Amino acid sequence: MQIKKAIFPVAGLGTRFLPATKATPKEMLPIVDKPLIQYAVEEAVSAGITELIFVTSSEKRAIEDHFDRNQLLEQRLAAAGKEKLLALVKSILPDGIHCAYVRQTEQLGLGHAVLCAESFINDEPFAVLLADDLMEQKTCLKKMIDQYQQHSASIIAVQQVAKDKTDQYGIVELHENNFNKPIKNIIEKPTPNDAPSDYGVVGRYILTPKIFTELKSAKPGVGNEIQLTDAIAKLIKTQAAYAHEIEGKRYDCGDKLGYLQATVEYGLQHPELATQFRNYLKELKFDHGDKFKP
Ligand code: G1P
Repeated sequence: MQIKKAIFPVAGLGTRFLPATKATPKEMLPIVDKPLIQYAVEEAVSAGITELIFVTSSEKRAIEDHFDRNQLLEQRLAAAGKEKLLALVKSILPDGIHCAYVRQTEQLGLGHAVLCAESFINDEPFAVLLADDLMEQKTCLKKMIDQYQQHSASIIAVQQVAKDKTDQYGIVELHENNFNKPIKNIIEKPTPNDAPSDYGVVGRYILTPKIFTELKSAKPGVGNEIQLTDAIAKLIKTQAAYAHEIEGKRYDCGDKLGYLQATVEYGLQHPELATQFRNYLKELKFDHGDKFKP
């Protein structure tokens, strides 16, 4: 079955980035010149997704505006002869891609956010992308969809995480460390002592629609929130699910350090900036080394 729909839970408050996120959604924070949400959307679209479902809140209108046409801006760019920028602005949402928005009126957790989008899904498998998690490999979701085609089962993206940081992730337990076998268990944010492995969930999922049944009966878990991880833990009792070990880096852009790392690395690859930025960083190191010592 083709996977055509993706859910983007974007209703979170982004408190770790205050005051920047007081009036701006955290998903609109740019990495160089593109907002985080656009990277996630581009990854989804290049994987064949055509229906984008954003689970938003009242503070997130900027996301809706970003993926809508801005006639005034287009007219002004056209009048100023800025054809390149005009094409750039028009290409944010390619032809044939549709957006839907649903409000999560109470912040009851990631599982609850996914459940809010149920009526858009129609009993078919779908993707979930957390825009905070920026993937170095733009083909991450595509590879997960390929794996879905192989198993016809839910696929959860993971990567190895530091053993003392398991309490920041959903942690999966594999059968004999074998990614070709269904996962044995998944636990939300266990302490290092309780973690069954160091494979942490990163924000990409392919889920079968049965997850909605599990979400409806899910009780609040870690942080008193309805956790997607808990629903997956129930799902795998009756349906296989597989872990997908991502290739390349994943930048945790919900965290200031991860955000800065992504900014530096994307800056170093940016077609217009790479050389100048690289030179600038070198100068910082050699000419002002002392200034930047703690
Ligand atoms: C969520 C999930 C967690 C996952 C993480 C990946 O947690 O609940 O299982 O490992 O995303 O970014 P959050 O970071 O929203 O607390």
